[in-house]
Amino acid sequence: MVQQESGAHSSPEIKHRPGGQHADVLLKTGADRLTEAGVPSPRTDAEILAAHVLGVPRGRLAAMAIAGSDVSSGDASRYLDLVEERASRVPLQHLTGLAPFRHLELRVGPGVFIPRPETEQVAQAALDQLARVAQSRPAQWRPRVIDLGTGSGALAAAIASEHPGAEVHAVELSAQAAAWAEMNLRPLGVTLHQRDLREVPADWESSFDVVVSNPPYIPAGMVPREEEVRVHDPELALYGGGADGLSMPHAVIAAAKRLLVPGGWFILEHAEVQAPVLAEHCRADAALERVATHQDLAGRDRATSAHLGEEPAPSVEEWRA
Ligand SMILES: C[S@@+](CC[C@H](N)C(=O)[O-])C[C@H]1O[C@@H](n2cnc3c(N)ncnc32)[C@H](O)[C@@H]1O
Repeated sequence: MVQQESGAHSSPEIKHRPGGQHADVLLKTGADRLTEAGVPSPRTDAEILAAHVLGVPRGRLAAMAIAGSDVSSGDASRYLDLVEERASRVPLQHLTGLAPFRHLELRVGPGVFIPRPETEQVAQAALDQLARVAQSRPAQWRPRVIDLGTGSGALAAAIASEHPGAEVHAVELSAQAAAWAEMNLRPLGVTLHQRDLREVPADWESSFDVVVSNPPYIPAGMVPREEEVRVHDPELALYGGGADGLSMPHAVIAAAKRLLVPGGWFILEHAEVQAPVLAEHCRADAALERVATHQDLAGRDRATSAHLGEEPAPSVEEWRA
C-alpha cells in the first residue's frame, strides 16, 4: 500500500490520521454513510468495496479489521470515493467491475444488465434439460445451446463452464452489452452473435437442443423503483414491450420453436405475474409439450419451460416413398 496524503475527503477520521486509517474505523465510516443513504445491506457493500480497493478477500479484510490494521490514506481516500458513489446509488457491481453468477465472476459495467441471483436457477434448469436430452443421444454427441438476449453472457457462460461438452451460442442486440459479453464468453469458447433474437437465420432452424433466455419483460408502465435498476440497467434490457411486457417473452417462445430440434427444450425467465399467461400460451400451442412453471428460491413462479414435440413417426406410405 502506497502511503499518500488524502485530500479528497473531509472525513474527520482521515484528517486526524494523515498517515493512514484503521481498517475497522474505515469500514464503520463506510457502512454508516451507506446506511444514512438508505442503501440496502450497507455493511456488506462497505466490506466488498474495501476488499476491492485493498485487493484482499473479505476474510482477510475481517482479520485486518479485528487487528486494527492500518490502511494507507491513499487507499482510504479511494475507498471513501467509492462509498460516495455507492451512496448515490451507482450499482456495487459497476464499482467493482464484477458480478458473481453461480461459480463465475463476470465483468460488468455501464451499458449491460447486472445478472441477478434468481437467474442462477434458470441456468440450473437449462443444465438439467441438457442432461435430460443427453440421455437419449449417443455418448459422443455434442449438444447445442443458445442463450437469447445474453447481456453480460451470464447464462451462456454458466452453461459453457458447467457443461464443457456443449457448443454454446449467445445472441445480444446491444453493441455495448455485447462488448461485455465478449469479454466473459470468449475465454469459455462461446460464440457471440450481435443480432436481433426475433430474426432467426434459416440455417439455425431446428439445430439447437436447448434454448435459454432471460429476456426483457417489465411492462411499459412499471418503472422500477430502485435507482440502481432504473438509472443504470439499460432500457433495452428492462422493458419487454407492450402494456403487459410480454412482447419479448412471446418473441423468445416463437424463436425457440424455430431453433429447437424436435425433442429439444426451452426455458425462459419472466415476472411472477406473467407465469399463468405464459404457461397458458405454451399449453395452447400444439407443438409444445410438458409445459412447466419453475420457482425461484423464494418460491415465486419465475420461469417457464416446454419441450418441442418429437416429429410424428412417418406413415407407412411416407416410409415407402
Ligand atoms: C433482462 S436482460 C438479461 C441479460 C442476461 N441474460 C442476464 O440474465 O443477465 C435482457 C437482455 O436482452 C437484450 N435484448 C433486448 N432486446 C433484444 C433483441 N431484440 N435481440 C437480442 N437481444 C435483446 C438486452 O440488451 C439485454 O442484454
